Amino acid sequence: MLFVCLVAGFFTADIISAEWTYDNQGNWSPSVCIEGPHQSPIALSTSLAEEADFPPFRMDGYWQNMSTILQNNGHSVTIRPNHQKHIPRIHGGGLSGKYKLDHLHFHWKSEHTMEGQRFPLEMHMVHYHEKYSSYQEASDYAAEGGVVVFAVLFYLSPDDVEEFNHVLKAVLHVQKHENQQTELDGFVIKNFIPMDVAGFYRYNGSLTSPGCNEGIIWTVFVHTLPISQAQVDVFRSIRTRHNKPLEENFRELQPLNDRHILIKISPVGVSAGQNLFAGNANVFLVIFISIKYCFSG
Ligand SMILES: *[C@@H]1O[C@H](CO)[C@@H](O)[C@H](O)[C@H]1NC(C)=O
Ligand SMILES: *[C@@H]1O[C@H](CO)[C@@H](O)[C@H](O)[C@H]1NC(C)=O
Ligand SMILES: [Zn+2]
Repeated sequence: MLFVCLVAGFFTADIISAEWTYDNQGNWSPSVCIEGPHQSPIALSTSLAEEADFPPFRMDGYWQNMSTILQNNGHSVTIRPNHQKHIPRIHGGGLSGKYKLDHLHFHWKSEHTMEGQRFPLEMHMVHYHEKYSSYQEASDYAAEGGVVVFAVLFYLSPDDVEEFNHVLKAVLHVQKHENQQTELDGFVIKNFIPMDVAGFYRYNGSLTSPGCNEGIIWTVFVHTLPISQAQVDVFRSIRTRHNKPLEENFRELQPLNDRHILIKISPVGVSAGQNLFAGNANVFLVIFISIKYCFSG
């Protein structure tokens, strides 16, 4: 049986295990999942990475209020643009050419780790080169840079995060069964991307679910965003085809082997969650300078 991988939404001619789950990762097929030298996810850390300079990203259409379809595909929750005239596009950041957004989806807990830390949630934004007519076509050219994935990691916040409420209401509509879908209007992707995208890891990896295609260019943003445990629990409540809650859907870390990890360091700094507090830091700096000025003047 030819299985259609819905997490990444691509087709492959290889036979993929009729039913892959996060409990049988050692048996995933095709064989590249087990034997491929350049698989994802990997452990990221500044000490393993070589510093590199890349031009800034240019994001077009990420602030728009999009009409989307949200789906429970049995392995994740996916969100894809629906009848969108203006598909979000990204370029820069050392990528050659422009890449269009195909869909985004979530993993709980995170697949990548940073400095040994696994985060409660990771979002993947899957893009394909605009010279291809669809993601399906581009994924045949994954080895030639046809597909790029951007990852955002989310840290645990004590409070619910307003931006997620709207999405999670839609998740509750598709919670019961695999392949249920619902319309999600007013979705603004930029609300789920850190303000500071200047700091990121870059490496060559693979899709993190079968068929595990290699040649995927990964960008993992260094800055993270908040989500509450109660909100993560809504993702964890979606049911698989076996009518069981999908409690976790992350792939185990894969060996780095001969690969290089590059990092572009944001001039603003690299600590997790810093973007949230940068505003306050500036206020303190202004107060400090004012006080100093008063006393020295
Ligand atoms: C987004 O569009 C929907 C209708 O398509 C509208 O109801 C909603 O208020 C809009 N939201 C924003 C933030 O503009
Ligand atoms: C990824 O692979 C391409 C093609 O082999 C290579 O040019 C590029 O430097 C690699 N990127 C990284 C971050 O190692
Ligand atoms: Zn993913």
